[in-house]
Amino acid sequence: MLENITSENESYLQGVKPLTTEQENTLTNRQGHPVTNNQNLRTVGNRGPATLENYDFIEKISHFDRERVPERVVHARGAGAHGYFEAYGTVGNEPVSKYTRAKLFQEKGKRTPVFVRFSTVIHGGHSPETLRDPRGFAVKFYTEDGNWDLVGNNLKIFFIRDAVKFPDMIHAFKPDPVTNVQDAERFFDFCSNSPETFHMVTFVYSPWGIPANYRMMQGSGVNTYKWVNSEGKAVLVKYHWEPKQGIKNLTMKEAAEIQAVNFNHATQDLYDAIERGDYPEWELFVQIMSDGEHPELDFDPLDDTKLWPEDQFPWLPVGKMVLNKNPEDYFTEVEQAAFGTGVLVDGLDFSDDKMLQGRTFSYSDTQRYRVGANYLQLPINAPKKRVATNQSGGQMQYKVDRAPGQNPHVNYEPSILGGLQEAKQEGKEYTPHVEGNLVRQSIDRQSNTKQAGETYRRFEQWEKDELITNLVNDLSRCDSRIQAKMIALAEEADEEYGRRLREGLANAEKGGSSQKPLGNHGGDKAMEMAVEL
Ligand code: HEM
Repeated sequence: MLENITSENESYLQGVKPLTTEQENTLTNRQGHPVTNNQNLRTVGNRGPATLENYDFIEKISHFDRERVPERVVHARGAGAHGYFEAYGTVGNEPVSKYTRAKLFQEKGKRTPVFVRFSTVIHGGHSPETLRDPRGFAVKFYTEDGNWDLVGNNLKIFFIRDAVKFPDMIHAFKPDPVTNVQDAERFFDFCSNSPETFHMVTFVYSPWGIPANYRMMQGSGVNTYKWVNSEGKAVLVKYHWEPKQGIKNLTMKEAAEIQAVNFNHATQDLYDAIERGDYPEWELFVQIMSDGEHPELDFDPLDDTKLWPEDQFPWLPVGKMVLNKNPEDYFTEVEQAAFGTGVLVDGLDFSDDKMLQGRTFSYSDTQRYRVGANYLQLPINAPKKRVATNQSGGQMQYKVDRAPGQNPHVNYEPSILGGLQEAKQEGKEYTPHVEGNLVRQSIDRQSNTKQAGETYRRFEQWEKDELITNLVNDLSRCDSRIQAKMIALAEEADEEYGRRLREGLANAEKGGSSQKPLGNHGGDKAMEMAVEL
């Protein structure tokens, strides 16, 4: 709309001489007035005082005063890049249409533009990228049917399985509200009293908790979604990204060494790789399960603290993603990017996973606060193809989402006066049957430690050693009741895991930790620096 206003009225510029290059590069304020003196305030005499009618200064300083929007409440530190997703048209050896009618997957070689934001989770916008933390892996696909966001992490599971626990979990992991220092005791207080966290703790305290950079890590949708085909039939799916660059994780010592010289290393690595044309790539895999509760499994398919065993549910490739363009402006594109688990296209659906449903409310809610009511009109968030809504108003409305030919007086529906019409349902509508009593209950088949034991046994020796060292380092500073609960969980998961943790903590308490040779490579100082969660 604004574009129209300007072009229709541009006739007033007729007869005005085109600007020379020098004039085009001239500084103006936001009203388009040339700024002739950007060094001195307008003052009474050259020693002041200043005057209040000084528009240029007040515009400049008050915009500066508002340069920050609230940072993300989690995943505040991030880096982003543009690229494309290329479909294989198949899922494993079968046509993908057997399982989903989502258009972006159907044709071999079909490309869909994407924007990706990688992140750390707990600390603020300028925190070191070497910290022990899951990493965010959020992808926005600008499809022909509108946007699809796949908001995932590098690890394939999560700490908790019920969205109502998320604010408590994040409070426990973030710095103490009094000291503003992150505290292992608060972290383990929450985790030891929420045993479903133990599998994720096992990953996060191993080297998998410090990926070497963003290019050499996996991604995963973590939660269970659905695929719906043209007959309206659904299956359960999990998504996983596999880096073509390989996977690399860091020991505590390596992380401390990097952090001592560069705490932006992951952002820089991604930016530099794309600048030199070394475009990172990931292959997208899905695991598929028939829709249902699967009583034969010892876990619930909707439980995001569990891996779906690969031998029963193989990873099936569906396409690849290439990141080949850096953002032109960090704030415009990366900071204002807004991803959400509710952003799905036809052929993709939610499962009943309670975490996923809680997340789906939370993302757009926080973005209306963080970026503003019209955050979806920003170019980074807007679908590339078309938007036509009757929504209008709110802070920073930039345009009306009007369709060409739409009667501008009709901003409602239904109407016979030329307003927007409802879209036709494509394919058979998916109408799952839901019934049950409303309850507040956790799921059955919790099996909180079994997969943690399997994960521990799959680790290579150096990964097991790092895990024990890192846990001992942080747990040795915790209340003995918390230590006892964590040891009990480790013992339940795996005999060796439990024994090593018990022994490590006993020795650490005596002051002569058997883990010292492992944990001490970087020297005590470096270890202290790196012993963040
Ligand atoms: C960011 C909520 C679980 C991955 C966020 C944000 C919120 C949030 C409020 C900030 C969004 C913004 O300001 O734009 C929640 C809630 C969860 C949950 C309530 C559980 C109930 C998860 C899980 C994953 C995840 C399980 C991994 C699969 C991410 C990522 C971002 C994010 C990657 C950053 C997106 C970006 O780069 O902008 N989450 N989250 N979250 N969350 Fe979650």
